Amino acid sequence: MEKYIFFGNNDPNAKMRKTKIKLNCFNIRNHSIYKKKNNPMAKIDDPITIKSITFRNRIGMSPMCQYSAIDGFVNNWHYMHYGTRAIGGVGLIIVEASAVSPEGRITPSDVGIWKDEHISELKKLVENIHSNGSIAGIQIAHAGRKASHAAPWNGSKQLISSESDWETIAPSPIPFDPSEKSPNEMTYSDIKAIVNQFRDGAKRALEAGFKVLEIHAAHGYLIHEFLSPLSNIRTDKYGGNFENRVRILLEVVNAVKEVWPSNLPLFVRLSATDWVENGWDLNESVKLSSLLKQKGVDVVDCSSGGNIISAQIPVEKGYQIHFAEAIRETGIMTAAVGMITSAEQISNILENEKADMVLLGRELLRNPYFVLKAIKNQNWPIQYLRAK
Ligand code: FNR
Repeated sequence: MEKYIFFGNNDPNAKMRKTKIKLNCFNIRNHSIYKKKNNPMAKIDDPITIKSITFRNRIGMSPMCQYSAIDGFVNNWHYMHYGTRAIGGVGLIIVEASAVSPEGRITPSDVGIWKDEHISELKKLVENIHSNGSIAGIQIAHAGRKASHAAPWNGSKQLISSESDWETIAPSPIPFDPSEKSPNEMTYSDIKAIVNQFRDGAKRALEAGFKVLEIHAAHGYLIHEFLSPLSNIRTDKYGGNFENRVRILLEVVNAVKEVWPSNLPLFVRLSATDWVENGWDLNESVKLSSLLKQKGVDVVDCSSGGNIISAQIPVEKGYQIHFAEAIRETGIMTAAVGMITSAEQISNILENEKADMVLLGRELLRNPYFVLKAIKNQNWPIQYLRAK
């Protein structure tokens, strides 16, 4: 099988990436020539530049819904929550899934980016993050058939009419949980409207000052529902073969690029696999990532699962890192995420070029100051120096 060998990191700052050699080979990342030419690898405290943005290190905060907004507006909870992690030293904060339409919310308390009124509070959040040294990113999202649910602490159940539920949409009328009400199958005009909503959300994110935009195409939400043949059984140009199932995501990327500047980083979060036979899988994720790279996407944020309720997921330390590693072989940068909790693990990922960045979720909920300890030479906030 033909593969390419890349010398150096995937990021534009890489010292050595200049040559591309066509090789007949097996796993090129274990190849001794490859390893030699790529030394020294990125370290935990190396900054990274993607397009015009330099991140102070390669550790980011993974997007995590707080279900604490009212009518989509961020508030004091969000300022405190994200501000603390910025003080804590992460290079990037990806603000939680922010709905591009009210119907695209998982719960009534999701953050929103569907109306211009949201921009001014988001702007304060961005300023808060930037003034503490982190780069502010935001994930824009539509929950599809997983919309209209209760917050986790209220049981995560599908809402009922007395709880002000709403109609949900999806590529096909198949509910996530067979016990739930079916979503409505989307028409072409619904699809067009959603694509436009992602574009408008991106425009608002830019106006609010975000420097990184992430399109949420993972975890069984709307775009992932189109990607997977298990949730998408359409027979038109948005269903069936690979080209048709990925069509909506490529349209969203095109639409977003109409408004998102070419000098700012664009991420896409994928579920690299459904973890179910005959579902969306790593091969398709790799193929899609090549297309995303051609379209100008900078980073694939490599998560997994969330689309099939019966999936058996082998959740363990670093269980998704190999997805980031495999997708990175297409030449696109990747972010690794999932059960990463130590500086040692992060160094191992970066030094062995399994990913270009590492995102932390729950570890940063447990310990907002993780990075201050994990990176030896990290600049601490001057106010905290006496505790160093
Ligand atoms: C999440 N996750 C998540 N993912 C995403 O793409 N958008 C989101 O808004 C959320 N929301 C969310 C809320 C909470 C409370 C948790 C714990 C998780 C998934 C998250 O970004 C991450 O991928 C996983 O938590 C796995 O990483 P960790 O937690 O093992 O580091």
